[in-house]
Amino acid sequence: MNRPRHFLDLDAIEAQELRGILDRAAAFKKALAGNGHDQPLAGKTLAMIFEKPSTRTRVSFEVAMAALGGRAITLNADEMQLGRGESIADTARVLSRYVDIIMLRAKHHGDLLELAENASVPVINGLTDRSHPCQIVADLMTFEEHRGPVTGRIIAWVGDSNNVAVSWIHAAARARFELRLASPEPFGPPEGVVAWARGEGAEIVTTAELESAVGGADCIVTDTWVSMNSTNLAEREALLPAYQVDERVMALAKPGALFMHCLPATRGKEVSASVIDGPQSVVWDEAENRAHAQKSILAWCLE
Ligand code: CP
Ligand code: NVA
Repeated sequence: MNRPRHFLDLDAIEAQELRGILDRAAAFKKALAGNGHDQPLAGKTLAMIFEKPSTRTRVSFEVAMAALGGRAITLNADEMQLGRGESIADTARVLSRYVDIIMLRAKHHGDLLELAENASVPVINGLTDRSHPCQIVADLMTFEEHRGPVTGRIIAWVGDSNNVAVSWIHAAARARFELRLASPEPFGPPEGVVAWARGEGAEIVTTAELESAVGGADCIVTDTWVSMNSTNLAEREALLPAYQVDERVMALAKPGALFMHCLPATRGKEVSASVIDGPQSVVWDEAENRAHAQKSILAWCLE
């Protein structure tokens, strides 16, 4: 039996595969705005398992499956036997007998890998404590919609270099843009991921200096200071306020630079209301593009 085509992380996907996923996501969006697109996943079923809350990921996957002619089943891990101790491996084997593809939002990245190892259908990473690759496909799509090819551009990540930042690092290696991450020292990106990306030839700058990181950037990205897996809350509250993306920070970037945030956001913490609700913000496009990106990821896994 051929190994299923999993979508686990962007470091495991070749540059040209990512390019294809982005182009098809844009084509799905364009077709929907016209006469609608074909339904390549007719008769297919997606099972989604959530160990943590979700608004965008859940709804965009459900909408994407319906748009492609398939359907989605949403499962709360606590309401499954998984929540009572049935193993991930057995869950993978059983679900593989019912559905064509599985998405997992996991507390621990290792659980995603175990699911993929034991599933005979493709598995998609719907966010773990380590990464969030579906989000970055939508974000790259959004950047390119507004500014053209991302290759050669400068993206600045500001604040907590969390799971979303890790997927940006993977993407920098695959899509060839400069990525600068400005974080207070305890909240910098995992060294192994940065070393991997540099080894792939990616231009990655890690610094605690906000001003130098955002200077001349084409896009500034941030995320919540408190992720669903975060610890050290007092240290976060003490160190991260200096990294709020406000109008002063946006003014240091290239004129007209984009502002991105995967959402949910806390206005007045990682971003000021004036920036997220202002003219440079493309956060609603990012959210919308999750659905088109997901269609393309689903089709890539299943076709
Ligand atoms: N950005 C994102 O993944 O949002 P949800 O947690 O609402 O799915
Ligand atoms: N970093 C955030 C992203 C939520 C979509 C979290 O993991 O909670």
